[in-house]
Amino acid sequence: MRIDILTLFPEMFEGPLSESIILKAQEKGLLSIRLTNIRDFARDKHRTADDYQYGGGSGMVMKPEPIFEAVESVLDDEVPGEKPAVVMLSARGRTFDSALARELSSFSRMVLICGRYKGVDERVAGLATHEVSIGDYVLTGGELAAMVVVDAVARFIPGVLGDIESAETDSHFGGILGPPLYTRPEDYRDQRVPEVLLSGNHERIRKWRRTEALRATAKRRPDLLDKAELTDEDQEILDDIEMEGDGS
Ligand code: ADE
Repeated sequence: MRIDILTLFPEMFEGPLSESIILKAQEKGLLSIRLTNIRDFARDKHRTADDYQYGGGSGMVMKPEPIFEAVESVLDDEVPGEKPAVVMLSARGRTFDSALARELSSFSRMVLICGRYKGVDERVAGLATHEVSIGDYVLTGGELAAMVVVDAVARFIPGVLGDIESAETDSHFGGILGPPLYTRPEDYRDQRVPEVLLSGNHERIRKWRRTEALRATAKRRPDLLDKAELTDEDQEILDDIEMEGDGS
């Protein structure tokens, strides 16, 4: 996937995009990420990217012209028929989740527009295929949100995660939280790793993990269960959990 990030602060991305799995994905040629400074498209001598808002009120608004021109410049080699996802990060957007990350991972190109100040001139929204918020709070800009989107989308691109990091056992895969995880030592500060995980019995381990994943979801995020992909076995497990009551 080719990703273009349009921002007034390209330096903010240096660390997060050059470490670990995202770095490896670029080295393997699965991801290619290009940063474009929106200010390079501001035409006046002060390179102004923002202005006062019509109607009055506090806070500056990002001007449309530099953003339109920046988007056009990164898409100038657009292949006919290959529609890019153009994602505008904004606190007014649709809430980002695993399903949206997966949907975005199916595009071969994605352009991310990072807003700053009070917000972005509404005419820019007309350029976007998706307007996305990463949660119900306001950030100082879209940059951190764009990093979250790149990271979560990249994990769904085939080959980005090795078998060992497989997304299938992650929280939110299939719509529920993941199970608790343990590593060595077996006994730490009087807390033992659950015996079943040491048993070597794959079927018992699978069932325990599924049960604990469903238990955590029912307790912490019951809202997820309405939309989750649940089997008959899951439903039985949930019924048993409900019968047990809240033992905590
Ligand atoms: N810009 C400011 N707040 C934001 C949020 N919650 N998500 C995405 N972009 C933002």
